[in-house]
Amino acid sequence: MTPDLFAAAPSPAERAAQLRAQLHHHAHRYYTLDDPEIPDAEYDRLFRELHAIETAHPELLTSDSPTQRVGGRVLDAFTPVRHRVPMLSINTETDTEPSGARNFDTRVRRALGLAETDAPVDYVAELKFDGLAMSLRYEGGVLVQAATRGDGEVGEEVTTNVRTIQQVPLRLPADAPPVLEVRGEVYMRRDDFDALNEKQRAKIAAGAKGEKTFVNPRNAAAGAVRQLDSGIAAQRPLSFFAYGLGEITPPEQGGPAFETHFKMLMQLKAWGFPVAEQTALATGADALVAFHQRIGTGRDQLPYDIDGVVYKVNSLVLQRQLGFVTREPRWAVAHKYPAQEQLTTVLAIDVQVGRTGKLTPVAKLAPVFVGGVTVTNATLHNEDEARRKDVRVGDTVIVRRAGDVIPEVVSVLLDKRLGNPEPFSLPRQCPVCGSDAVREEGEVDYRCTGGLFCGAQRKQALLHFAQRRAVEIEGLGDKLVEQMVDAGVVKTLPDLYRLGLTSLLALDRMAEKSAQNILAALEKSKRTTLPRFLFGLGIRHVGEATAKELARHFGQLDGVMDASVEALSEVNDVGPVVAQSIRTFFDQPHNREVVEQLRACGLSWEEGEPAERAPQPLAGKTFVLTGTFPTLSRDQAKDLLEAAGAKVAGSVSKKTDYVVAGAEAGSKLEKAQALGVAVIDEAAMLAMLVSGA
Ligand code: IVH
Repeated sequence: MTPDLFAAAPSPAERAAQLRAQLHHHAHRYYTLDDPEIPDAEYDRLFRELHAIETAHPELLTSDSPTQRVGGRVLDAFTPVRHRVPMLSINTETDTEPSGARNFDTRVRRALGLAETDAPVDYVAELKFDGLAMSLRYEGGVLVQAATRGDGEVGEEVTTNVRTIQQVPLRLPADAPPVLEVRGEVYMRRDDFDALNEKQRAKIAAGAKGEKTFVNPRNAAAGAVRQLDSGIAAQRPLSFFAYGLGEITPPEQGGPAFETHFKMLMQLKAWGFPVAEQTALATGADALVAFHQRIGTGRDQLPYDIDGVVYKVNSLVLQRQLGFVTREPRWAVAHKYPAQEQLTTVLAIDVQVGRTGKLTPVAKLAPVFVGGVTVTNATLHNEDEARRKDVRVGDTVIVRRAGDVIPEVVSVLLDKRLGNPEPFSLPRQCPVCGSDAVREEGEVDYRCTGGLFCGAQRKQALLHFAQRRAVEIEGLGDKLVEQMVDAGVVKTLPDLYRLGLTSLLALDRMAEKSAQNILAALEKSKRTTLPRFLFGLGIRHVGEATAKELARHFGQLDGVMDASVEALSEVNDVGPVVAQSIRTFFDQPHNREVVEQLRACGLSWEEGEPAERAPQPLAGKTFVLTGTFPTLSRDQAKDLLEAAGAKVAGSVSKKTDYVVAGAEAGSKLEKAQALGVAVIDEAAMLAMLVSGA
């Protein structure tokens, strides 16, 4: 596998042959074995390269080229089924920008001979489910056959397996026509997929032979449908969405006469088939663009994977008029989203030390564009996870980045591993300070035991203390903290307040004006509040909300410092683990010392009496804030909501109760609308603070 630097570039004929061999191999892994080695985007890239060569050199095209075949081979073990109405494929628009939708609309209008002044075309916009296509045949209202797509003409009979899918009706209402073939997608929900892989891992750990985990929900679904043992298939939780028709009793024999695709879908829904709730009528190109964007924003909140959306001309008369090019209808198109998985190589595996000493292995990657951004790092979470995936330096890996989630390594392409690199293990010493790293019983993480002796933890602790929602020291960012700690001028939190102009000016590139600003910010930060101070100390498990509860409950810092585990456990939301962590923190003489020194440096806050619990009209409700409000700042709104018992989250999900939207609200508002979450304004929120939701 070592590249020969002196080899001539292959000729188009050689390259085409290479690509064909590779594509055959990968198609077999994918279609026949349900066990792909490379992500779809990589397969598509190879496929497009071959397609481009064949287009430029038509003489190189062979009848056995993968570009000439649609779909996969039929397994011998299943009975072949000839589809009475072929199962077509759909033209894919890989331009993920709005132009992708506009190009489709332009093509449709041109084919229909419409002038610019003619009315916009009506479409149905659907999700493009990432599962496998299925044709369900009903005779006399009873499910008699389920068949995969196969090559579009002949598929495989998988009725027994499909009968295990709860969402597939086995019998239809009396008004269903004598013959009905419903086309749709069998898929696996992400939560079902995670649970299945969890079970698989347990079986493997228990020594079961021949078991494996699945790469993604689609492959798990395909594997389940094509299980020869339907008992096993039944244990694999599958779902179904309907999106079209095959054969149906014609109107002249008493079958229904649909005018539009949308009415047909609504009838399928009425007969008991799941139709995705996002399915929408869209008039003209702008509406298609808006749908693509709206669904794209909410994509990660869906409980299942989609890889794009599908637009279909709504009028069935116009569909007939538009017809087909080769095997693809001119009246439909799939409009993709950027791939969330890509291939890249691991350049190194670094170990990062967090604020609480946690050691996290991080794969440094050759830069790769995935999920819309360039990714160079992917977390490996912890040692067990890194070992389970067996990620090693030099490996070719699949990275996944979905939404705002941190990128992660999904799996390693073992057959691309060069030589025999060392298996990864976390160092047993902290890579920053050399202290022992230990793993406590029942924990997955190794932690550096150096505490504030460890430079990495010290830097993180200072940054945590200085952040806006803690004591807030304006201008004290990563770079400056790094310099201060590396130069040894700041070792502990109180050292910050002992800094003078001279020691600041001694730092690299520090001008007098900036030094003055830092000193002023430090001075300003001394007047704080008890919750901010408590949060800023960085006690393990004590986040902002817990700090607020502690301050409210005890009123005074000494009360918190001296409280027993039992007394701490009485605080709202404080369980035994958190209580113990607080107790352990204040049992350390050096931590009490830090607190005393900070007080001596002039940090102060108002102390009060232990508070009675204020009424909590919004307890149990989750809010998300977006945009600029007319009277309140975001932080003020957050404080008010929390004081009323509400939770304030950073992103919108199905669990969100209300989105409070101000001026220029952005994607969170769109997401809320996509998910049907209630959207309110500041005035409505203020009213709820008093009278509840
Ligand atoms: S319509 C005539 N609608 O995408 C058009 N297909 O090549 C026939 N797919 O594997 C397909 N979601 O299973 C259609 N809303 C949707 C779809 C969808 C997913 C799959 C389909 C097939 C591929 C189309």
